[in-house]
Amino acid sequence: MKKIITMICGMLLTAMSSMNAKTLVVYYSYTNNCHDIVQTLSSQIDTDVMRIEPADKTQKYEANGYAIGTKLLNAIKAAPNDAASYPAIDPVSITDLTPYHTIIIVTPLWWSQMAAIMQTYLFHHGSEMAGKNIGLIVSSASSGISGVVNDCKRLVPNGKYFSENLWINNSNRSNRSTMIKNWLTSVNYNSLTAIKTPTTKSTTTHNYYSLSGQRLSQAPKRRVFIANGKKVFR
Ligand SMILES: Cc1cc2nc3c(=O)[nH]c(=O)nc-3n(C[C@H](O)[C@H](O)[C@H](O)COP(=O)(O)O)c2cc1C
Repeated sequence: MKKIITMICGMLLTAMSSMNAKTLVVYYSYTNNCHDIVQTLSSQIDTDVMRIEPADKTQKYEANGYAIGTKLLNAIKAAPNDAASYPAIDPVSITDLTPYHTIIIVTPLWWSQMAAIMQTYLFHHGSEMAGKNIGLIVSSASSGISGVVNDCKRLVPNGKYFSENLWINNSNRSNRSTMIKNWLTSVNYNSLTAIKTPTTKSTTTHNYYSLSGQRLSQAPKRRVFIANGKKVFR
């Protein structure tokens, strides 16, 4: 009976170790570059996906030299701890982040910062991501992403960040599939998201014999004997 239970437990643990803990990709996209990135990403990993939408769909963020984007970001900069500084977003489709061990944030860069709409989502939900693995993918035309990384760390201060962020820009966008694949490998995505199984107590049984070949019920205290085919001195 004991042997059967041990066998079943072993089989269950083996099955569990090949499963991955859940991942959520959360993103915002105005001109669909981030949307394309998310489609490529979700063809490579098993993930739930949630798109953040602004409440006001009429805004043309690129108009007048990106004036609206600038105005939104300046309001956040002036009072980053005030909810009223952030542009309103639609209610989100996934409200419970508990099942997700890993969250990958995919966002456009606006004026070297995180796009304001994405900031709104993280302002309200970043604290729920404490202790979770956090990946960050940023899409820009050409600007470097350090400002976006800083925004992310301000809004998700207690995330366990991947060892690297991924920056995709106009010059390498067409190569995104390979870039994402290499990034997932270099941050060790598979082992980050693997369910950790408890180590089972060793069930190895030892066979002890005296030098004359007589089987012993336990390891002798102080003499020469054979254990698992090897001579042991005590
Ligand atoms: C308001 C606004 C400001 C932007 N500012 C910058 C910038 O400073 N540097 C840059 O390289 N790209 C900038 N961009 C371009 C976007 O970062 C880039 O096109 C990105 O791929 C857009 O992602 P999306 O298509 O998912 O919205 C800006 C775009 C907008 C709408």
